[in-house]
Amino acid sequence: MCEGIEVCVCKNICIQEILEAIKNGVKTIDDIQEKTGAGTVCKMCVSSEYDPYGERAVHISELLKNV
Ligand code: FES
Repeated sequence: MCEGIEVCVCKNICIQEILEAIKNGVKTIDDIQEKTGAGTVCKMCVSSEYDPYGERAVHISELLKNV
């Protein structure tokens, strides 16, 4: 259960876990997928391109923008 935003509903991955991976040097979506499993099922959490109706609050691509 997430205390903050749940980025990936399919794999139940919270924003903290994604930010922690980025803090530890992850720089690409592929690496996020490999390290956390987020974005490996429906991909709606990967980017707005896969989420045309804006169902995810935040996308992995947005979290990686300033990396
Ligand atoms: S919400 Fe992340 S893969 Fe489906």
